[in-house]
Amino acid sequence: MNITNLSPVAIQLNIDLKICSDAELKKIIYTLQFSPIIVIKKQNLTIERINYINHIWGTHQLAHIWCNHLEYPIIFRVTNREIEPGKKGLFGDGELDWHSNGVFAPDPEEIVSLYCVKTHANSVTYWTDFAKAYSDLPEAIKIEIENIDVHITNKISDLYLKRAAHYPLLEHEQQALDKISTRTRNFSGGNPDNPFEIPSTYFQTDSKSNSVRKLKERTKPLVVMNKISKKKGLYFPFLSIDRLLHVDEQRSEELFYYLVEHCIKSENYTYGHIWEEGDLILADQRVGLHRRNNIIGERELYRTAFWPHKDDVEHWINSLHRSQ
Ligand SMILES: [Fe+2]
Repeated sequence: MNITNLSPVAIQLNIDLKICSDAELKKIIYTLQFSPIIVIKKQNLTIERINYINHIWGTHQLAHIWCNHLEYPIIFRVTNREIEPGKKGLFGDGELDWHSNGVFAPDPEEIVSLYCVKTHANSVTYWTDFAKAYSDLPEAIKIEIENIDVHITNKISDLYLKRAAHYPLLEHEQQALDKISTRTRNFSGGNPDNPFEIPSTYFQTDSKSNSVRKLKERTKPLVVMNKISKKKGLYFPFLSIDRLLHVDEQRSEELFYYLVEHCIKSENYTYGHIWEEGDLILADQRVGLHRRNNIIGERELYRTAFWPHKDDVEHWINSLHRSQ
């Protein structure tokens, strides 16, 4: 597998996903543990092959919401095309600001993959590598933030930056996303044939939140470590943060703006990808965010989100351990 550096934070893998072996497919996910933004260009994949590749790559949860492909339900259709009368796909319109997969889920899928089916000119998605951002921090800051948690909320008036990452969604879209927002890999009441399928009883509808956004919050560690590469990184979905915990309010605010400056405003850790049809991007969402520019023409991406298979992770950890 031939690797090219696209930027200080993104690599391109030169591989033909149509014909490569399952072992080569798994090696891509292994590589991602060390290099959290991977671009694979000029693929010409059928949806059957995309579905197959994704099952080799990892374990997906079935969301069963309006934008999922009917025949290949692990695929979310991100498109402004009408996928059924009167309904566009997921995030069909407009710009999206910085966000990461499943911030309100306790253990969201670690990897997001996007495959470009159709694009207009100059459609750009930006990705960040907060493992590199962490490694460049001064030692004193690394020590100070080691045990800090981030507090995440969707109550916009409480947020440091007081803005949402996306435009107001239609009611049916918002309700569907709220339903799956607290999904967990470890839910014990699921379908035994597919332990990651979210049972319908899990979706408790709050009658008070039928027409307004459900209030959500979550606390997670700011510093995370990759079990395979042993590299540390920052979990920093800054647009959803209202407080850093275990420091006083003033220091929370100082550190928050310091990290925004270091991680985002410097642009040292950002890679912008101009889409071409057939491009596929994989990103580790534990240590990175993404955003996109405005939609100005027909566009469709196939999005999947998954954890690497537990067996593969164990195998990688054991083989690295043996080689040390
Ligand atoms: Fe996204």
